[in-house]
Amino acid sequence: MEAATQAAMQAALDPTTNAGAAPAPNKAPGAAAAESAGEPILEVRGVSKRFGGLLALGDVDYTVPRGRIMGLIGPNGAGKTTMFNCITGVYKPSVGDILFRRAPGAAPVRTNGFKPEKMTALGIARTFQNIRLFSDLTVLDNVRIGRHARTRQIFLGAVLRTRGQKREEERIVEDSMRWLDFVGLGKHALAPASGLAYGHQRRLEIARALATEPGLLLLDEPAAGMNPQETQMLDELIHRILDQGITVVLIEHDMKLVMHICDKLVVLDHGIKIADGTPEEIRRDPRVVEAYLGRGAADA
Ligand SMILES: Nc1ncnc2c1ncn2[C@@H]1O[C@H](COP(=O)(O)OP(=O)(O)O)[C@@H](O)[C@H]1O
Ligand SMILES: [Mg+2]
Repeated sequence: MEAATQAAMQAALDPTTNAGAAPAPNKAPGAAAAESAGEPILEVRGVSKRFGGLLALGDVDYTVPRGRIMGLIGPNGAGKTTMFNCITGVYKPSVGDILFRRAPGAAPVRTNGFKPEKMTALGIARTFQNIRLFSDLTVLDNVRIGRHARTRQIFLGAVLRTRGQKREEERIVEDSMRWLDFVGLGKHALAPASGLAYGHQRRLEIARALATEPGLLLLDEPAAGMNPQETQMLDELIHRILDQGITVVLIEHDMKLVMHICDKLVVLDHGIKIADGTPEEIRRDPRVVEAYLGRGAADA
């Protein structure tokens, strides 16, 4: 872990300072969430993922509350991205179940073995730790691909279109523009994606994910490489996403952001869940302090 990250983590975890304290608990996510409060949108049950001899995830259990922001944290190599890959169908868990319940009160769907496209269609969208954009395409076209929620071939196939398809295409452009405006990139719509500043590229990835109209949005280190002002804008954006009735899970090393916006945290270390609770509980958990700062730090 970088020294700066470690220092920020130390400050945030130190119960004697107020560095990472949330000014107010975030418990007002909007009407859509309130009606189904308490019912998890996602349940991870006994999930393990093995890569050859390496146990990247070992028997991990947790639930993601609907209409909330959950943080998935832990040192580098803890298994956080692997967990997202299991949830989104990139990897099939070696053992265990993942259950997704898009609509409140609906029967949960056991997603084991589903492909990523199917997970997108079910209502789970994500962004990537390493930004994945079509850099040759415009900002708008990158979101249109998300709106199609399908492959690039189908997107390009829309060139041969009937009148009905043309109307559908116009609607997709309108919706895509709406999401671009939502993340504050509307005025960059026709610029090539490669020309965007780094923080803007991260927001574009979020717009593309939102364009698939997810019920659950997974963000893998969205603040990585952002300056404090961009991180502040991201904090505000995540709250607006929540207000749309979308549940958010966030992998993030910026502990100030995590402690501020998350309602619940799950902490992984070497593939094992070592803690699960409110930010306040996590800050005080000696196992978490030890995982981040090394043996002995918890007693110091
Ligand atoms: N496709 C893969 N093949 C082999 N090992 C992998 C693969 N993906 C992840 N790993 C390993 O799994 C562990 C967890 O990685 P990852 O989930 O990326 O951690 P994190 O996101 O918490 O930093 C690491 O040891 C990593 O090297
Ligand atoms: Mg990762």
